[in-house]
Amino acid sequence: MPKANLRSSQGKSKTVFVCQQCGKESPKWLGHCPDCQAWNSFVETAVSLSPASSDWLYSTGNKAQELSHVAKATFPRLHLGFAELNRVLGGGLVPGSLVLVGGEPGIGKSTLLLQVSAMAARNSRVVAYISGEESINQVKLRAERLNISGEGIYFLSESSLAAVLECLTSLRAERSNLMVIIDSIQAMYLEGVAGAPGSIAQVRESTLRLEHWAKQSGVPVLITGHVTKEGAIAGPGTLEHIVDVVLYFEGEPFSSYRVLRSVKNRFGSTNEIGIFEMGDSGLVEVDNPSQIFLSAYKEEAIGSVVVPTLEGSRPLLVEIQALTTTSNFGPPRRIANGVDFNRLLLIAAVLTKRAGLKLFNQDIIVNVTGGLKLNEPAVDLGIALAIASSFHDSKSISGLVVLGEIGLNGELRGVPRVERRVAEAIRLGFKSCLMPKLKSKLSLDHAEIQLIEASSVAEALRLGLSKSKGNVIASAAKQS
Ligand code: TYD
Ligand code: MG
Repeated sequence: MPKANLRSSQGKSKTVFVCQQCGKESPKWLGHCPDCQAWNSFVETAVSLSPASSDWLYSTGNKAQELSHVAKATFPRLHLGFAELNRVLGGGLVPGSLVLVGGEPGIGKSTLLLQVSAMAARNSRVVAYISGEESINQVKLRAERLNISGEGIYFLSESSLAAVLECLTSLRAERSNLMVIIDSIQAMYLEGVAGAPGSIAQVRESTLRLEHWAKQSGVPVLITGHVTKEGAIAGPGTLEHIVDVVLYFEGEPFSSYRVLRSVKNRFGSTNEIGIFEMGDSGLVEVDNPSQIFLSAYKEEAIGSVVVPTLEGSRPLLVEIQALTTTSNFGPPRRIANGVDFNRLLLIAAVLTKRAGLKLFNQDIIVNVTGGLKLNEPAVDLGIALAIASSFHDSKSISGLVVLGEIGLNGELRGVPRVERRVAEAIRLGFKSCLMPKLKSKLSLDHAEIQLIEASSVAEALRLGLSKSKGNVIASAAKQS
């Protein structure tokens, strides 16, 4: 080691600058994080140089083993009361796993985990519910609201992680069937680690210790983490590589529906979603989400199109609405709620150039009903048809669902798992599906639904919009 380094590590305490969004470290202050592009996010943080603080990381006696000699481990899954949650977890909770439930404050994380605790307790589990944010009375009030007696749930209001781990270790010694909830990771602090509770160093170190504890004891640990839209608090993003499972609990403030989304799962597939509704007495699972997202859908509505989207393995029918209005001044605006903004720009450009829709002086607003976010390109054609429907004041043909990705030349591209999507449309009584040209026949009953195949956006608009008065698509497309 160079002399200069030796001196600094033995001398006064050292400080580094840490990005509070992504955890990037820099020896000097930076105004702009080169990794996560956040502005003004670096905070000077003292680095603990005492080797004692990381003693716990090292264990002795671990030998490398040849993989072929390792017996296949089975993960006996712990089924939590909510079927939606079990599916998102990949079939239940794995013992010794660390699960992070992230979400904006007030979205319902504590409510979800208290309900999960009650269900686990009913299944003869012992639950340790640790809250660093709420007092026992606050949690008792919530439990009463949720009709939870609290039997089998041991509550501790504590924010020192050392004290929490001590309490958990002694509980574990008495009870083998323990499950732990930590609400929230940002409220926990560790002596000897730099920064206030919620700072990136504290959050990261606390999570590492919990991970270590969970693995050692075989107890499943669920932790909550707040994320804000501005990312003001050290976001769970920095913890994603430490924990086994990352679930995000999302929803719009105006909507009572909540979506639990898996973005990382070491024991199952990602991008699964579970849908809940927040009611007066807590969260209730939504068994038939397509029906919810379509509850206000009216077939004759202009600018409204239904798309069969896939969330993980699950098909969902969702309504996309679009409204185009002539902009009176300035450049036309594009507003995307629930769909990717850049994707909307792309679709608007393709519609203008390849399908002859004069959108350059039109404000375009696209909205996905129910507060769901659609990220897959398979919904492109649905967005395009909704925009065209509003622009031409012409509704789409009756009983239609739409799928397909749009290319820059206006061509339509196939989408994955068409059968599953079409089957869901059939289940909900839709009569036809507008889609890109199929390469092979679908293995489903073609009598139940009419498949309308198109190779370009212009053709799809011609086929998908009803030929009522005012429909000028055909002539516009011909001109282009
Ligand atoms: P909470 O679980 O405290 O959110 P988080 O832990 O993510 O910050 O949920 C808070 C919101 O949920 C609060 O605004 C009230 C609402 N709520 C209900 O609508 N019904 C209920 O039964 C409960 C317990 C909460
Ligand atoms: Mg909470």
